[in-house]
Amino acid sequence: MIRSQDALHAPFGGVVPEIAARAHLQTLIPVVERALETASTRWEQVDAVAVTRGPGLVGCLLVGVNIAQAIAWARRLPVIGVSHLAAHIYAAQLAEPDLKPPVLGLVVSGGHSDLIRWQADGSIAVIGRTRDDAAGEAFDKGARILGLPFPGGPAIDKLAADGNPKAVNFPRPRAPGLDFSFSGVKTALLYDVRKRGELSPRQRADLAASYQEAIVDALLQRVEAAQAEQPVPTIVVGGGVARNRRLRQAAQERLGSLAHLVIPAPELCTDNAAMIGAAALVEWERRGPDPAPFDADPSLGFS
Ligand code: KG4
Ligand code: ZN
Repeated sequence: MIRSQDALHAPFGGVVPEIAARAHLQTLIPVVERALETASTRWEQVDAVAVTRGPGLVGCLLVGVNIAQAIAWARRLPVIGVSHLAAHIYAAQLAEPDLKPPVLGLVVSGGHSDLIRWQADGSIAVIGRTRDDAAGEAFDKGARILGLPFPGGPAIDKLAADGNPKAVNFPRPRAPGLDFSFSGVKTALLYDVRKRGELSPRQRADLAASYQEAIVDALLQRVEAAQAEQPVPTIVVGGGVARNRRLRQAAQERLGSLAHLVIPAPELCTDNAAMIGAAALVEWERRGPDPAPFDADPSLGFS
């Protein structure tokens, strides 16, 4: 089951941390109960509790980490805290349980654009990161510039379907090595919109498609470069932005011939608990459960 807070944040044009934390507190236990019910599972059949330890908004993480440890204590279950970033990559195992490292991974979310290597020893090395905005942030800010509603990523995705991706040749973000940078393309969009003044529906769709194309192109260019540097058999693309239809299609076209490409189903790309369960299985094999009590870590990396 999926419980979304989007409608609560939409009037504010972005996620409001206090509202997000309160909504977690109000919905988490009913959601756990509903999930067990939907899966026809009794507590006695549960072996362990998995939870996101970070990264993310501290208020939300605290609610999750404390409820998970309370359940584990009350039910005498082991508990394991995982990185939600790594989980975006491990989500691929829900589609392909036999998937194993070495894997080249692209994690594109609201807060991160990271290129990683999940290595044969199980560790994850970050080989590229964003110098400024994350890819999801670029979508969200671009949507605001175009006057589209929150959340911006899906709004641009939808509008871009009716637009011409070649209408405007936005600059491809350039950062050294395998890093990303999206602030330049965002500024280019802002200036373009200001210059035009009133936008017709066609212009708006063309701008959305061209802007999306620039972001997608920049992301895939870095994955291609990393794969050329050190080829691996499997590439995974995950995170909320991996829901983007143009990214999924272009990734298939450009990366599909370079390696076995796995992009989790759209509902497993945006933050979800199934991927946290998948991550817990991977981490459990690597290091076992966590000694409780443990804390949330808003700036946690990939492990
Ligand atoms: O991974 P995620 O659910 O949460 C974070 O960890 O941040 O990613 C959320 C991000 C948001 O920026 C949202 O706009 C973006 O993913 N997103 C999309 C699409 N669906 C969600 N971006 C582009 N196209 C989409 N279809
Ligand atoms: Zn995420």
